[in-house]
Amino acid sequence: MTHAPFPATRFRRLKRTPALRALVRETTLTPDDLIWPVFVMDGTDDATPVPSMPGVSRLTVDRAVAAAREAADLGILAICLFPYTDPAKKTDACEEAWNPDNLSNTATRAIKDAVPEIAVMTDIALDPYNAQGHDGIVRDGEVVNDESVEALVRQALSQAAAGADILGPSDMMDGRIGALRAALEAEGHQGVAILSYAAKYASAFYGPFRDAVGASGALKGDKKGYQMDPANGDEALRLVARDLSEGADMVMVKPGMPYLDICRRVKDRFGVPTYAYQVSGEYAMLQGAAERGWLDGDRVMLESLTAFKRAGCDGILTYFAPRVADILGS
Ligand code: PBG
Repeated sequence: MTHAPFPATRFRRLKRTPALRALVRETTLTPDDLIWPVFVMDGTDDATPVPSMPGVSRLTVDRAVAAAREAADLGILAICLFPYTDPAKKTDACEEAWNPDNLSNTATRAIKDAVPEIAVMTDIALDPYNAQGHDGIVRDGEVVNDESVEALVRQALSQAAAGADILGPSDMMDGRIGALRAALEAEGHQGVAILSYAAKYASAFYGPFRDAVGASGALKGDKKGYQMDPANGDEALRLVARDLSEGADMVMVKPGMPYLDICRRVKDRFGVPTYAYQVSGEYAMLQGAAERGWLDGDRVMLESLTAFKRAGCDGILTYFAPRVADILGS
């Protein structure tokens, strides 16, 4: 026992005032813990609300640049781009994924131009460009691994050339981290970091995101052939070990809140920069309830994000980022 029995020990002594509570607080949340995922779309000076994510809109590139400026001014260090691709550009071979002038690359260049201090993260996966809606290339109904990795490498090189600071492979193909790292080194992109979606689960919490990027209608079947079974924990540690051994600089657990045990195990085991993604469905749950007056939106937002820090995460990808940063800064 590390404390004397009651009444010598009274936990309430240190809960008595805000100052005493703050003095013994074990974790803090700051704007530099946040990575803000932003959906981009074609057009100019326009925004389209995402119905299943109240408060979140897809933004045209010029609006995304303005949003990045505001985010940087709020102390947010990184923004993560997800394109809403014109369905006419979706093919089985996913060529739009490595078009130097695709939406993601155009937005990356525009943001790095206007707001150079903010880190731009991009998503490596074929689903926004795939007529089949899958993260990899589909042949005879099967997501083929090695050919998908070759496509992902092309996509990564085009994103690095556009100026991305951090690449986020969210595809869950085997061997992709090693292939990406080797290609980045060979092509003069030694400084580009990889934040691997190492422990990414086949989750129903991604539903609203697939609406946001227009992938829901396209997806045939499910992603259980490459994303993780929610019942597995040890496998997450093996995946993290594998991705680190192939050259990942940072790792991610996704979704977030239902998988805090995995965050803690990853941080304890590896001690590497560890991130969680508070995904679209988690956002929708909290925000949807807040809108109905069933939950105090600001408080559950801050509590949920603090929980990630307590579970060992170095940072969180969250759609709440600008709102949190605004509250924390005021
Ligand atoms: C796809 C991708 C997904 C998310 C990020 N990248 C969805 C999926 O795997 O189907 C989900 C993010 C969210 O739900 O907020 N490569």
